[in-house]
Amino acid sequence: MENTSQNTESLQQNNDIGQGRGVYISTYGCQMNVNDTERMYSLLEMQNFTPVEKPEDASLIIINSCSVREKPVHKVYSEVGTFRKMKEKNPSLKIGVGGCVGQQEKENLIKNQPMIDFVFGTDQIDNLPQLVAQSFEGEKRLINAKFEHRAPYHIETMVRNPGVATFVNITKGCDNFCTFCVVPYTRGREKSRPLQHILTDIRHLVKRGVKEVTLLGQNVNSYKGEEDIDFADLLAKVATETDVERIRFTTSHPKDFNQKLADTMAAHQNKVMEYIHLPFQSGNTRILEKMNRNYTREQYLEKIAMLKKTIPNVVFSTDIIVGFPGETEEEFQDTVTMVQEGGFETIFAFKYSPRPFTKAAKFEEQVDEEVKTDRLNRLFDAHDKMAFDLVKRYEGQTMQVLVENVDREHGKIQGRSTGNKLVHFLGTPDLIGKTVNVKITKAFPAVFRGELI
Ligand code: 5AD
Ligand code: SF4
Repeated sequence: MENTSQNTESLQQNNDIGQGRGVYISTYGCQMNVNDTERMYSLLEMQNFTPVEKPEDASLIIINSCSVREKPVHKVYSEVGTFRKMKEKNPSLKIGVGGCVGQQEKENLIKNQPMIDFVFGTDQIDNLPQLVAQSFEGEKRLINAKFEHRAPYHIETMVRNPGVATFVNITKGCDNFCTFCVVPYTRGREKSRPLQHILTDIRHLVKRGVKEVTLLGQNVNSYKGEEDIDFADLLAKVATETDVERIRFTTSHPKDFNQKLADTMAAHQNKVMEYIHLPFQSGNTRILEKMNRNYTREQYLEKIAMLKKTIPNVVFSTDIIVGFPGETEEEFQDTVTMVQEGGFETIFAFKYSPRPFTKAAKFEEQVDEEVKTDRLNRLFDAHDKMAFDLVKRYEGQTMQVLVENVDREHGKIQGRSTGNKLVHFLGTPDLIGKTVNVKITKAFPAVFRGELI
């Protein structure tokens, strides 16, 4: 039952749905959700809600959920349980669920948890104030999870405190339909923002003090702007037509990473950071085919070789799934050797988790949970053995670090190297937003320690 009405227009127009009341948003999952939460807070602040740090202080609680694996979905349900108890004590409290679980479950959520006041989908964030207004008007069981298939993707970045480094959405949705992945169902069809909108957006962020942007999308390198503009063109434009100092992007699909994009990164290496998150998911070609990834092990390794040749000092990270249906021990070993051959300093590895609507969830030969756990542990062990040695070569090197924040009490600075490593060193708050040279004294796989030069 889709239940959005027009009669709340007047309420929305008075910009005072919140009447100063507190709003708390609990966020799960990926960077896309983090950005969506910022958008929700910004929209609700415009309606005179006040963001609060603790759910106990809120009159409106929103869960921005994730359904990429089963675990975060469980977390959402357990949090709903906690908030239900709060609502029992305070019946005027409103509770809404958005994000990927909202999109996926729609009315089922309210059927299972009748204390939820409203559910909204990933394409309905801009209509959130209206939904909230209806809820405070006393309407119940509100659901709006429509996809705006025809609407162009026009959004301006809404981040309350962008700081030094921030994320800018450039695409939404995904049309790749990897057989394990729920995202094409929860985020809808792939759409790109117009190039000029992105440039204007970034210029505004630069005026607010932003030095680094990460261009964000499920699959950024299939970006299609107006007049055949592709992702490489976009990258070049951001580098040459805005004053942003550093550009990153995530996530890339190996099948769409071509020589032109690598050349563009190299041509603008003063601004485009030499770090690429390039998920390979499995090191075995048969499994990759069953995953519908559209590349073989060899093709992936060729891409890595091409990128290493084109972009000096390029750093890779990757996503990996172990225990995909039918994966044998030998096929899993191909994943282990792929980590070693690729020389990944950072990996994000997950046990395969069957997701609703997806093809792989229906595949026979699902792998036992214990086998998945064992493979994941062995993969992390193999990576640990290699990664500590791999990063040793950075010790003694000088890196350019953009300072993001300072722990004022201890004078400890946190910044990022061009290769996206967190670097800690001692310094003063005036360095925030500046790029400084730091000599690395100790290198761990995920974080470096150093001294300001
Ligand atoms: N099970 C386990 N991991 C998954 N991912 C996506 N779907 C699943 C799933 N069903 C992982 C992929 C993706 C990352 C964001 O999450 O590795 O790159
Ligand atoms: Fe999911 Fe594949 Fe799309 Fe990534 S490319 S969001 S893994 S379907």
